[in-house]
Amino acid sequence: MARGASRDPLPGSRLWTMPTFRAPRGTRDLLPDERVVFDRLRRTATTLTTRYGYRPIETPMFEQAAVFERGVGEVTDIVEKELFRIAPRTEDSEAWALRPEPTAGIVRAYVQHGMQTWPQPVKLTMTGPMFRYDRPQAGRYRQFWQFDVEAIGDAGPAIDAEIIELGHRFYTEVGVTGVEVLVNSIGDPACRPAYIAALTDHYRGHAAELPSTELDRLERNALRLLDSKDPAMAALNATAPRTTDHLCEACAAHFASVKAHLVALDVPFRVEPGLVRGLDYYTRTAFEFYVAGREGQQQALGGGGRYDGLVALLGGKPTPGIGFGLGLDRVALVLAEQGGGAAVHAETGPLAVVVGADPDDTVSRLRVATNLRAAGLRVRADLARRRLGRQLEAAGRDGAHFAVILGDELEAGQVQMRDLLAGTQRLVPIGDLARELARAEAGHKHG
Ligand code: HAM
Repeated sequence: MARGASRDPLPGSRLWTMPTFRAPRGTRDLLPDERVVFDRLRRTATTLTTRYGYRPIETPMFEQAAVFERGVGEVTDIVEKELFRIAPRTEDSEAWALRPEPTAGIVRAYVQHGMQTWPQPVKLTMTGPMFRYDRPQAGRYRQFWQFDVEAIGDAGPAIDAEIIELGHRFYTEVGVTGVEVLVNSIGDPACRPAYIAALTDHYRGHAAELPSTELDRLERNALRLLDSKDPAMAALNATAPRTTDHLCEACAAHFASVKAHLVALDVPFRVEPGLVRGLDYYTRTAFEFYVAGREGQQQALGGGGRYDGLVALLGGKPTPGIGFGLGLDRVALVLAEQGGGAAVHAETGPLAVVVGADPDDTVSRLRVATNLRAAGLRVRADLARRRLGRQLEAAGRDGAHFAVILGDELEAGQVQMRDLLAGTQRLVPIGDLARELARAEAGHKHG
């Protein structure tokens, strides 16, 4: 039926039309094949971060809007244009917003729970959906997943390199190839004012060429113009003063040391002086991950940086921090393009399907399958009352390795175990079935 067409739910009645429901614009359903890819990415994130000493945290999906306004910054796309604000239900309730990113919420939790008294740095990780009212396109969604890592309480520079290496290794372990690391230093409160003054002068000199939104931002935060998504800004940004030419001695030394550590760790990287990131909380180290050749397309696979002022900004005592967020939707997209993730279906499809010669005997099929599942195996029971031939065809379509066929031998405590891949079949005592299937699967995996 055509989209938007109505269907008559009550034959003969013309009283109501059927609405056509869709996932909200900019969101999407992760159907099973893609959902298992996300699970695999998440598992890799968990094992990797555990190896590096990170512990999981879970913060709410919404916070007081002020957490993001103060933390991420009022003059940022994320807060100015993209924040999903939740309308207060009563006059005295506070203003909330869905989290556009995890860092501000995690730092809020760090302050709230007195984590400053824990051994420092506190290393935390979280993976989950984020929300930005962004203009949707491929790889840019209004609900998207991030794998996030934060190390709070270490001023670096060694940990900066450790964290960049961790991000880079994640892509390697999940199978994305050709990931480039772009790094920069955006200075600190000692040197940034002079840099921003130089930047402001530069843009003022080209005021006539500035789109009105950027002109509006110029006096409030010139840094934001540098990472504007407006194509009209590209030429102006290419000639803008560079952060790296305006670093104070301490920031320059920090950046030099980060680079030296990255070289020592064999992390391939490129210094990109135009990289300033779209959030206000950054100081000093900033970095992004791209698939080589896609740097210009606003399609970072991930990004992060140091935020030495954020804990104090959200009410804690001054504490340095650094972290990154990797966009899992984009990682999944690139994996699909690069041909990765093919093995995922095999991992989750059934090992065996229990079928039977008697179409009506669903009890036996279900009982055998239940026992095999209790033994830890992935088993589907064919519960349709159909001929054995049809049941076997369906088992083949499922990608099952084995069919367990219940026939006359069942009375003697035996079943046929058919290897659907090899086309062989043998009788197995029902009591040995779980062991035989498990052994065959192990042999297949290692063979
Ligand atoms: P971010 O650069 O805004 O940083 O986002 C991190 C990553 O999330 C991006 O590189 C991208 O892969 C993904 N991403 C962002 N927006 C979207 C979207 N609309 N659709 C799909 N993917 C998207 C942060 O969020 C910081 N909290 C990172 C950080 C952690 N810095 C320090 N600690």
